[in-house]
Amino acid sequence: MTRTLKGAGKTRSLLTPTDPGRDGFLELLDRAAALKLAKRAGREQPVLTGRNIALVFEKNSTRTRCAFEVAAYDQGAHVTYLGPSGSHLGKEESVADTARVLGALYDGIEFRGFAQETVAELARHAGVPVWNGLTDEWHPTQMLADVLTMREHQPGPVEAISFCFTGDGRGNIARSLLVTGAMLGMDVRIATPDELRPPEALVKEAERLALTSGARVLVTGDLPAALDGAAFVHTDVWVSMGEADAEWDRRVPLLTPYRVTPQVMAATGRPDTRFLHCLPAVHDTTTELGRRIHRRYGLTGAEVTGEVFESAASVVFQQAENRMHTIKALLVAALGE
Ligand code: CP
Ligand code: NVA
Repeated sequence: MTRTLKGAGKTRSLLTPTDPGRDGFLELLDRAAALKLAKRAGREQPVLTGRNIALVFEKNSTRTRCAFEVAAYDQGAHVTYLGPSGSHLGKEESVADTARVLGALYDGIEFRGFAQETVAELARHAGVPVWNGLTDEWHPTQMLADVLTMREHQPGPVEAISFCFTGDGRGNIARSLLVTGAMLGMDVRIATPDELRPPEALVKEAERLALTSGARVLVTGDLPAALDGAAFVHTDVWVSMGEADAEWDRRVPLLTPYRVTPQVMAATGRPDTRFLHCLPAVHDTTTELGRRIHRRYGLTGAEVTGEVFESAASVVFQQAENRMHTIKALLVAALGE
């Protein structure tokens, strides 16, 4: 297997979803599928024994942290978790200095945080691979899991896959799906109100990628047009980590027409359309956030209804499991050879 990851000079980092390029991205998915099978069959070969990985989180996480930890442990590596309040990063110590310290001690660094510039700065100074575990702009490791999950349901050429993201078009998930789908030659539709359209420069970038890949890219306020024939429907939380709580008052009226309901799923015109969500999702009133939304706006669930979330069309937990297999592929590709 060739080393195709790039994005931070000579190391094999993953800072944005397009860093690996089309072929590198698909190679990681093939590797992830093989690792998933090997684990299931009880014949996984650890190739990261003796490696040490730092996991740095400025924001909360369940899946990303656990996926990195389990992937590392399965492969024989050790991890250190630095949480939002556990280190000097960004407070008493600069990103560049932290990068040089962690780079001297560890073989690779995962970073989740606010500014994309922070993960880029880490990568510039660490001298070891740096993996973006989510920033305000991008969620590249999520994209590996999302495309693997779509391919598991629709094997064959990735270019034949159509998907519609409906919701906040400026969030890290919509932005990441837009460029990932465009790079891979997929049929990409982003349905979002005008007020939440992805930046025009990003839409142009997706259109530029589509010229090479043959992707079809549609960014529109017209949800029925975006759903027509889509094999997969994605959405994301309406207010992301790090955004002001007050945003809910603005987003709820803007995004309620874009929530995923049984009618929205039916509007693809396909009986086999699947539902994806990076999670965590607001789909009922069992969480503190879900109860707050119900009290304030009278909605049960927000971006997706409980009916869709719990339906047979929903593949969100398979998608969540795939975070681990794909992150393992990333670690093995970067450090295992
Ligand atoms: N999808 C995702 O990144 O989940 P966590 O925030 O739990 O890591
Ligand atoms: N857009 C969400 C994704 C969470 C995995 C957030 O950034 O909070």
